[in-house]
Amino acid sequence: MKSFKDIFNTDFSVVNSAHARVNLIGEHTDYTGGYVLPSLLNFKTTIQISKNENKKYQVYSEHFNEQINFTDFIKSKNNKWVDYVKGSLFVFYDENKNIPNTHLNIYISSTIPIGRGISSSSALCVAVLKSLNSFFNTEYTEKHIAILAQKVERNYIGVSGGIMDQMVSSIGIHRKAFFLDCLSLKFELIDLPDNWVFCLVDSAVQRNLRDSAYNERYNQLKKAEEYLGTEYLGSIKPGQFDQNKIKDELILKRARHVITENARVLEAKGYILNKDIKSFGKLMNESHQSYSKDFEASTEDVDLIVERSNTSGAEGARLTGGGFGGFTVSLIHKNNYYEWKTNMSKYYDNKNIFEV
Ligand code: GLA
Repeated sequence: MKSFKDIFNTDFSVVNSAHARVNLIGEHTDYTGGYVLPSLLNFKTTIQISKNENKKYQVYSEHFNEQINFTDFIKSKNNKWVDYVKGSLFVFYDENKNIPNTHLNIYISSTIPIGRGISSSSALCVAVLKSLNSFFNTEYTEKHIAILAQKVERNYIGVSGGIMDQMVSSIGIHRKAFFLDCLSLKFELIDLPDNWVFCLVDSAVQRNLRDSAYNERYNQLKKAEEYLGTEYLGSIKPGQFDQNKIKDELILKRARHVITENARVLEAKGYILNKDIKSFGKLMNESHQSYSKDFEASTEDVDLIVERSNTSGAEGARLTGGGFGGFTVSLIHKNNYYEWKTNMSKYYDNKNIFEV
């Protein structure tokens, strides 16, 4: 493996990391002003930076073993990984018009599986922005870094994403659940339950269409808000939901997922605080059903993992992240863990099963 020095022939001056996340419950609720409950994973992306003296930005990705040089921030035509770096630079300089354009060497290393719904892209943006923050001494709060990282997705990449991934990646702590009110951005860090394990299983389903499918769901939910005459679906409790107001069957299903999901997140938070973990597991299953049937964001392979996980001894399981493939997350009591893992290994390669 090549080091920063091997690539750029100089030492780096700042280094920062940002972690991936697993969402325990609360899918597509963030951009509708609702609640989410993710937790930080051990997987992380690390960025090393130094000044570049050749009037170029030089970015190297260890994962792709590829170096890309540029002098402006124009988005590449083929959606390359480097767009997230260009976008972070673009947003950072846009916020800091007083900072003269300074060319940089940037080295990316990462342990995060890419395109699996555990927010590899947000971790990349947060890590780059944290490094720029250190390099230029801009003294941004972690929350502000999360807001800037969201701008990269929205204004540069063109995905109408919410704020969950960036907030938890920037502020979260490993082994703590991160309860976030996505409207006020108030959050609480809650201990994960003792004697229980959360496990990821990789469906290995490619999420190629995820950006277009994600934006389609986003637009459907905005339509639902119009039908219901509300700014945010997140403000509607299941008991106040007047289903007759939505004339379009598809939009109705999408809205029903979000409105019931928000209620589940609030309930799930209560269960985790009261250490009623079995009830938490039950909500994970309900969440998956709603995500699969009403939101139609699951796949057959993913539904099968969820089913097998539950029959192998999990207390609950669901698809995590933006949808259409990627990882599932299962909740297992420590006493059942060995049996669960042995059973799941019959169907899935051990290298696709990770403990959170
Ligand atoms: C992606 C987005 C998040 C969120 C999830 C779905 O990860 O980046 O903002 O909307 O999908 O819950």
